[in-house]
Amino acid sequence: MDIKAIILAAGKGTRMKSETTPKVLHEIMGKTLLGYVMDNVKLFTKEQYVIVGHQSEAVEKYITDNYDSAKTVLQSPQLGTGHAVSMVCPYLENYEGQVLILCGDTPLIKEDTLKKFVEFHNSNNSDLTVMSTIFDNPTNYGRIIRENDNTLKCIVEEKDATPEQKAVKEVNAGIYCLNWGKIKNAFSQLKTNNAQGEYYLTDIIQWGKEQKLNVNAFILENSDEIYGINSRQNLAQATKIMNLRKLDELMTSGVTIVDPRCTWISEDTQIGQDTIIYPSTYIEGKNIIGKNCKIGPCAHLRGGVEVCDNVKVGNFVEVKKSKISSNTNVGHLSYIGDSELGEHVNIGAGTITANYDPLSKVKSKTVLKDNVKIGSNSVLVAPVTVEEGANVGAGSIITKNISSWALAITRAPLKVLENWVKRKI
Ligand code: UD1
Ligand code: CA
Repeated sequence: MDIKAIILAAGKGTRMKSETTPKVLHEIMGKTLLGYVMDNVKLFTKEQYVIVGHQSEAVEKYITDNYDSAKTVLQSPQLGTGHAVSMVCPYLENYEGQVLILCGDTPLIKEDTLKKFVEFHNSNNSDLTVMSTIFDNPTNYGRIIRENDNTLKCIVEEKDATPEQKAVKEVNAGIYCLNWGKIKNAFSQLKTNNAQGEYYLTDIIQWGKEQKLNVNAFILENSDEIYGINSRQNLAQATKIMNLRKLDELMTSGVTIVDPRCTWISEDTQIGQDTIIYPSTYIEGKNIIGKNCKIGPCAHLRGGVEVCDNVKVGNFVEVKKSKISSNTNVGHLSYIGDSELGEHVNIGAGTITANYDPLSKVKSKTVLKDNVKIGSNSVLVAPVTVEEGANVGAGSIITKNISSWALAITRAPLKVLENWVKRKI
């Protein structure tokens, strides 16, 4: 099926009160709001148009760096959601297929739901389908207004709604599927006669009805999925929802989460069976963790981490962009960054991989081969390789490669001055 996507990401996000970051680039556990939407949408649409406007350079760069199949389209000035979609019209002049429209600030939507939404659109021979859901507190969302026979009538925004309309709990999720050939003419006919003086995308519902097109609503049962981010409070709430969803999925698949109230695991982290995640662990970005591992308490995995089976990453250990092979222990108070650790490696407490040179701003790699043992409080100054089976004595600073089965030690010789204290008294 020929389906393209339009993602709205040009708005200012005034309520986020941010000077540095456009709304859609705010993050949930290491991934941007827009990233969540894009990752789902790219799985079943061939081409995506991302509408950018406010702080467009940053959003454009994010999209070009991360999504090959997406194009960015500039909307300037930003005159509303309907105006935003109309920016794509020149690109789709001869296109007759389907278009899925989503907002870049709705990161909780699942791929599966989007698929069901498109299936619903198809099985109803719909020309235009809008996703709706029921909220106990519908404030700030557009309300779905229905005719007496329950068919769709229109969508009314909070600011334009009468008290009676405000009482409606069915809201617009901001996700639409449309047969482009049938709906595209709507975008040149939208008006700004509303409280915000904007071109509302929501007005295409009424337009479709007037054109006698087949317009339907798909009611989403799990309303959490369309939770939109407009404020920092919303961001915190969405993070919580996403986290609990992930922890639940992990527990169902056989991972122990000792305390789900204070464990944070990103959506893009895979964890194998019988691994135990101890409290106050924070895992962000993309990671793969094997079976039978013990992670935490108070571990921080920052993304790009691969942990094989039977590994221990203990308390106050930070790991970034590293591979830790099976049966290896990093027990306590260590930093492992840009590193590759072999099997049966033991990392003593307080070991640091010094991966960053602040003068050259270059990050380098630390490689520890199988069976390497690193004594406590050692610094491995990268780039550095410790070959198979070598040992590093506690308190050493390793600045060059160490050969197999060697002992490397930089410790100053121990001096003991007998009765030194007594002589001072
Ligand atoms: C919108 C809907 C509302 C729905 C809600 C769901 C309209 C008029 N209202 O309201 O019915 O319940 O989403 O979350 O569509 N944007 C642009 N260009 C613009 C304006 C906005 O790209 O000129 C983008 C924003 O970046 C954002 C999205 O469109 O990603 C939605 O805009 P926002 O201002 O957040 O609309 P809501 O008030 O949430
Ligand atoms: Ca919004």
